Amino acid sequence: MSAALRDQYGRGIEYLRISVTDKCNFRCLYCMPLEGLQWLPKSDILSYEEIAGIVAQLAPLGLRRLRITGGEPTIRPDLDRLVAMLRLVGEINDISLSTNGVRLPELAGRLRGAGLDRVNMSVDSLRPDRIAAISRRQTGFDPFASAVAAERAGLDPIKINVVVMRGINDDEVCDFARLTLEHAWHVRFIELMPVGDMRELTWEHVVESAEILDRAASVGPLTRTVGPSRGNGPADYYRLEGAPGTIGVITPMTHTYCSSCNRVRLTADGRLRTCLFGDHEVGLRDPYRRGERLEPLFRQALAAKPLEHNLLQMKVGGLRALSQVGG
Ligand code: 5AD
Ligand code: SF4
Repeated sequence: MSAALRDQYGRGIEYLRISVTDKCNFRCLYCMPLEGLQWLPKSDILSYEEIAGIVAQLAPLGLRRLRITGGEPTIRPDLDRLVAMLRLVGEINDISLSTNGVRLPELAGRLRGAGLDRVNMSVDSLRPDRIAAISRRQTGFDPFASAVAAERAGLDPIKINVVVMRGINDDEVCDFARLTLEHAWHVRFIELMPVGDMRELTWEHVVESAEILDRAASVGPLTRTVGPSRGNGPADYYRLEGAPGTIGVITPMTHTYCSSCNRVRLTADGRLRTCLFGDHEVGLRDPYRRGERLEPLFRQALAAKPLEHNLLQMKVGGLRALSQVGG
């Protein structure tokens, strides 16, 4: 087995985010333009067998954790089939899913049965009219019911991601914080990244984490805590007194977490992206289809993984929608 994967700055890379589709059944204000996105042709998209084959080649190099993302991953048919295939890769000890949650009541049991460990749901409001306004789709989505369905299926921990937007949902910070008093759920507030093609949102809509935490603290005293046992990403966690759940903040705008970045991304069409921002990427699909070994390409990609992004200075060239790179 080769030495653990390190990038050029010595960061160990053990976490791969896998986008399985660029499509979504929502059109969240901060993520996808309403019109004009071009979908990938089907022949460009990796099959489940190809994804599992690529992961099986990369896992012995140090990957330990996987996250399935999109677009919205649950709109790809039979996602549980992919989960079951990934579960068979020996080195992988954690498989999670990022979803808007709409289909969880119907799918959580099957996904858990196939070996999914846990789930992150994107929920930006608890009010039906706002959910429709932010996602720009009338789905009748009930996030509470989806979280309960995920919990009942045995997915653990349950994380709920809220992108905070001034004047749009920032008045719900306390309602979300209160959820953690009743449920062992982990609510994570994310600073809006006003990048890409979004007409409706500007820098004025960004609410910095300090302000988010101030609001949450009006529910009760917050103490710093460690996050849920599995999969600590870039969030800082807090707990309300006596709460079974935690409150986290993810700070892409005011952050300092690039130095401990442990992740890379695989796009639905098989490009390995080493940073969410910028265009550092290496195509794995065609070499894989030609039967080539991917290890040298993977190492080459990591050698070019950038040290950090700098959203505040808007060095983000060329990214149209975060949905295209899996968030
Ligand atoms: N700003 C902040 N977070 C975003 N996400 C997508 N787009 C943005 C953005 N512009 C994150 C959200 C969402 C997940 C799919 O990606 O957390 O829940
Ligand atoms: Fe879809 Fe998630 Fe993007 Fe919303 S944030 S449009 S649910 S991919």
